Amino acid sequence: MIYAQTCDGVGFVIRPLSEGEARPDDSSEYDQWSGEFISAHSEMHQAVIECAGELVGSMSWHEEMYGPTVGSLCWNIGIGLVAVWRGKGIGAAAQRALAEHLFATTPHNRVEASTDVKNVAEQRALERAGFTREGILRGAQHRADGIHHDLVVYSMLRGELELL
Ligand SMILES: CC(C)(COP(=O)(O)OP(=O)(O)OC[C@H]1O[C@@H](n2cnc3c(N)ncnc32)[C@H](O)[C@@H]1OP(=O)(O)O)[C@@H](O)C(=O)NCCC(=O)NCCS
Repeated sequence: MIYAQTCDGVGFVIRPLSEGEARPDDSSEYDQWSGEFISAHSEMHQAVIECAGELVGSMSWHEEMYGPTVGSLCWNIGIGLVAVWRGKGIGAAAQRALAEHLFATTPHNRVEASTDVKNVAEQRALERAGFTREGILRGAQHRADGIHHDLVVYSMLRGELELL
């Protein structure tokens, strides 16, 4: 359970989805998929965001590897908010809180997130959360429109957290 608040002081929690509990509808144009789903290459952790007793979004995180030994593992995080809860500071605060939690509870040196080059809201939210824009992953994400979309990749390193 992660307790956090927006810069306006609105409190929320990030907690595991309970058994049998329905996920909130936080879909957007950036998660319309088609084709066969692949089984995750690492465990996908799933959580929901609850604010004022309401499910307002969901988050997920999984390990990515950039080398053959455990020191090269990092976290990749994702988020979606129910439409009426967007633009209230929750996206930035939740991604910052999750990054802090992952650095506090695991040894990994890096937390990363990527988003569509057109997803300005998520890019701003990640920047506000303290992530650094690294570059473009060209043609990386295939979606329901049949097109491979470019993504922007962001990261936060353990040593940067104290500086923010
Ligand atoms: C992307 C998302 C998580 C961002 O969370 P949010 O709570 O809406 O964003 P915040 O309120 O924390 O805003 C953070 C910044 O983005 C800006 N922003 C928010 N919505 C915006 C929009 N639609 N267009 C442009 N900027 C926007 C805010 O003004 C703020 O900028 P600032 O730091 O300059 O003040 C949320 O909008 C969402 O769930 N969108 C749909 C799903 C999605 O795109 N998920 C990410 C897929 S990778």
